[in-house]
Order: sequence, then C-alpha cells, then structure tokens
Amino acid sequence: MMTMLPIPKMETQFGKLYEADCLSILPHIPAGTVDLVFADPPFNLGKAYNSKFDDAIPEQNYVLWCEQWLDELVRVLRPGGALFLFNLPKWNLPLGAFLGKKMTFRHWISVDIKYSLPIPKRLYPSHYSLLYFIKGDKPAIFHPDRLPIKTCSHCGKEANDYGGYKDKMNPAGVNLTDVWYDIPPVRHAKYKKRKANELSLKLLDRVVSMASDPGSMVLDPFGGAGTTFVAAELLGRNWIGIELEASAIVERFENINADADYLAKLTASKNRLFTSDSLKLRKRFGHDTSKYRLDGLVEKPDLKLQPILI
Ligand SMILES: C[S@@+](CC[C@H](N)C(=O)[O-])C[C@H]1O[C@@H](n2cnc3c(N)ncnc32)[C@H](O)[C@@H]1O
Repeated sequence: MMTMLPIPKMETQFGKLYEADCLSILPHIPAGTVDLVFADPPFNLGKAYNSKFDDAIPEQNYVLWCEQWLDELVRVLRPGGALFLFNLPKWNLPLGAFLGKKMTFRHWISVDIKYSLPIPKRLYPSHYSLLYFIKGDKPAIFHPDRLPIKTCSHCGKEANDYGGYKDKMNPAGVNLTDVWYDIPPVRHAKYKKRKANELSLKLLDRVVSMASDPGSMVLDPFGGAGTTFVAAELLGRNWIGIELEASAIVERFENINADADYLAKLTASKNRLFTSDSLKLRKRFGHDTSKYRLDGLVEKPDLKLQPILI
C-alpha cells in the first residue's frame, strides 16, 4: 500500500526536498515526468552517515535494494531521459547489467579519484564509475561541455603538442571524454555537518548542463549534502530531492551564495580553449598563443542567481 506523500522539508523557487526513504517517495512521482536522474547511493562500505542507516549489508541484499529504486527511476524518466549512476566499479558492474535490460547504455565514465587510499594486495583504486544510460534509444537532451586545453598550472604550457593543428582547434574547447580527471575532491573544514560524501559541484554542473535544459525536471533520490539540488537550482532546472536526513541540505541552501560564486567561476572556465588564468600564465612565461583561434573568447558575466526559499 502506498503511503501518503509527506510535506516537503524545504521548497525553493525550483525544487522540493523530501526528508524520507526514497523508496517511500519515488512511487508518488508520475511515470515519464523526469528528464534527468542522478543517483549517488551509499556504497555499502560500512561508513557512518548522519542518517544512520546500515551501510554494511550482505552483498546480494545491497544489489537487490539498488534494483528496487532503479526500477522506480527508470519508470519516472521520460523517453530520452538520462540516468547517471555513481558508484564503485564493483557495484556498477551488476547494476549496469541490470539497467542494460531496461535502458540504452551510453557511457561508463571514469571519474578520477584524488587522495584515495591504497588497498593491500590490490591495484590502487583510482576511479569511480559514473554510468550513463538513456531511456529509449536516443537522448532527448545532450549538450556536453567542452573543456580548456590541459596546461601546466605553473607556466600555462600545453600538456599535449598540437603541432600544426593549433588553428584547427575549436575555440570553444576540446571534446569532453569519458575520463574525467578534473573533478576536485570536496574538503570543507567549514561544514563539519556535511558527513555525506559530498560530490564536487563541478561534477554535478557537468551532468546537469549536459543532460537537461532550463525548465527540465531533475531528480536525485540520495541527496547527501544536496550538490545535485544546488546545481539544478542555480542552473534554473526544476528538481525533486530525497534524503533520509536533510538538515545539511537546508543549511547549505541558506548559504547558497558560496556555491553560486563557485559555479560562476566554473562557468567562466569551460567551453573555451584556455582559461583566463592559463592565458595570463602563458603570457608571463612567453608561450605563444597566437596560432590558436580564440574567437568568441570573452569573459562570461558572473551568474547572479539568487534562489528563493519559499
Ligand atoms: C553518497 S551520499 C550522496 C552524496 C551526494 N551526492 C552529495 O553530493 O552530497 C548518499 C546519501 O544517501 C542517503 N540515503 C541512504 N539511504 C537512503 C534512502 N533509502 N533514501 C534516501 N536517502 C538515503 C544517505 O543519508 C546519504 O546522505
């Protein structure tokens, strides 16, 4: 029997946040109404979360639990809608096989991990898996960001030699690949309450920008510290959020200007061949940029987004 939909813990200009078990909320979302789902569940590693659920259950039960909410996520997506599933390769292997029976596989994106710990007698784990599936056979929305050329952070020199091709490079930057090496870890001494394995806003900005448009509906059933909701809000997407213990998200939205500033910096340093910092460095260290086409390379205005808490 379906329970009643609880009152949201928080409503903003674009979103609704439910403090509950996602399995009790998802059945209330009508089928075919969501454009983008991002899910970053607990990894069953025995970690302590604010919400105090059991993060060390038998492996088979963990996979069965994931399959339950994945079924709901597939149901609520529109045709052409996108599902991103962030997890350890170990879990995304069986979960990807499960999703492959219901959706179209697009990518296994490797998100490079910084500062992970070596495990004895194993290879050093150096990436998380971000699975990207589509409901139906083609994506309704797909506009991946382009990235600046990789340059040395000390002198601005290119990491690769583009030889005689410099003038052929797209001034909007290089194509996004399925290896994301530029996602920083989140370290917040300031926000001790955020014990939720918060992901970088850079990751969520990339996903939300790629697979949704302003006005789209974004869903994340495992809110954590609310990174998906902050990205959706600041980028003008509608969103539905669920989290067992949502106080860190409410607190984050009360201070969302810090995220808005960071997002404005991210926006200004993508979809162009060089960031303004690397251009300055290149000039200082005498690296020639004149062979590249930089047309359209203008400073982007700061995002002046002020979410409204209702
Ligand atoms: C890995 S964290 C998500 C972090 C998030 N992506 C971020 O960037 O902040 C997983 C979250 O899922 C929440 N969670 C676990 N079981 C849940 C459930 N059944 N329903 C809703 N949330 C759940 C945990 O409390 C935890 O905050």
